[in-house]
Amino acid sequence: MRELKIFAVVAFFTGVLYWGVEPFAHTQLHPHKPAPDYTFSDTDDVRNGKIGDVASGKSLIVDQFQCQSCHTLTVDGAQIGASMDMGVVTPDLTSAGLIYDERYLAAFIANPAKAAQVEHKFVDGAAHPMTSFDLAYDGTFGDDDAQAVADIVAFLKSIAPSSLTNKEVFADACQRCHGIKYGDFYGGTMAAKGDVSTYMGTTPPDLSQYIRSRSKGFLHEFINEPGKHLHGTAMPRVGLTESAENQVVSYMEEVGDSSKPQREALAPNFLGYLVIFALFAWLWKAKIWREVH
Ligand code: HEC
Ligand code: HEC
Repeated sequence: MRELKIFAVVAFFTGVLYWGVEPFAHTQLHPHKPAPDYTFSDTDDVRNGKIGDVASGKSLIVDQFQCQSCHTLTVDGAQIGASMDMGVVTPDLTSAGLIYDERYLAAFIANPAKAAQVEHKFVDGAAHPMTSFDLAYDGTFGDDDAQAVADIVAFLKSIAPSSLTNKEVFADACQRCHGIKYGDFYGGTMAAKGDVSTYMGTTPPDLSQYIRSRSKGFLHEFINEPGKHLHGTAMPRVGLTESAENQVVSYMEEVGDSSKPQREALAPNFLGYLVIFALFAWLWKAKIWREVH
């Protein structure tokens, strides 16, 4: 019976540490953040209820505003435009309608710095390299702009592929700033697409190992709204849909922690082994003591 008492004392204090002290310390070090908001309800609803028209969006993008003067995109099966290094290499827009949330995408076109929550970086005459949308160049965002942005978003959605691999989502959403070099040990194509250190004021880290140093929850909260975790950070908000964001985090897991499924599959076997081992140890001990008494 003495053993049981000792066990009870050890179990009690372990329990206090595990369920009491550790979670408390954790909440102090990492205060709770609200869950990611994939409706982007805090960004301006710039389309203001307007329904987009695909054909009009096409002529706005390709003829009137020529987004292809800075971006590449695939229209009617052919790639148009050229990507440019403007301190940051511009992303291809073909997948934008799939990976970005519509409301965020519209808000980004209307005012990139505001939607991406990096206005604090563009002060004293510095402007975001992608100019805010203004159909009539009248300096205000009116009903005509709302309709045009709705049309542009409708067109981007119409040209987007129906699905992408995890790696492709990462490439379109993150790789213009971040490398993930372990993703391609031999070819090296997963390095960052350009050097953004001057544009960003800091060098974005290689993301190969972030799945290990940060939790999944942190990554989702951070991508969805970086300022929640790093106030005043240089990293813009990347308004991914929930499924695109899951794909990005899955890709980080494939690259940085590919043995996780095996490791997790091992756990039940290992625990089973411990239980059986404990049983034998106890039987052995009981036998020895029986002889001693
Ligand atoms: C003068 C060059 C320029 C033009 C013209 C331009 N863009 Fe951009 N765009 C950029 C740059 C630079 C970035 C990358 C900014 C960054 O990562 O900080 C960007 C990023 C984007 C993104 C990525 C958004 C995100 O959250 O990651 C989208 C979508 C986009 N542009 C759409 C458009 C559309 C649609 C048009 C045409 C109406 C357009 N752009 C015209 C320069 C331009
Ligand atoms: C326009 C450039 C840009 C894009 C696009 C971008 N990031 Fe970042 N990211 C940064 C910069 C700059 C930092 C460094 C932030 C700092 O030090 O304030 C950063 C930091 C990070 C960090 C480190 C956070 C920490 O706790 O230290 C993670 C993780 C991250 N980014 C993930 C992503 C993912 C995933 C994507 C794609 C969905 C992405 N980023 C897209 C610029 C970017």
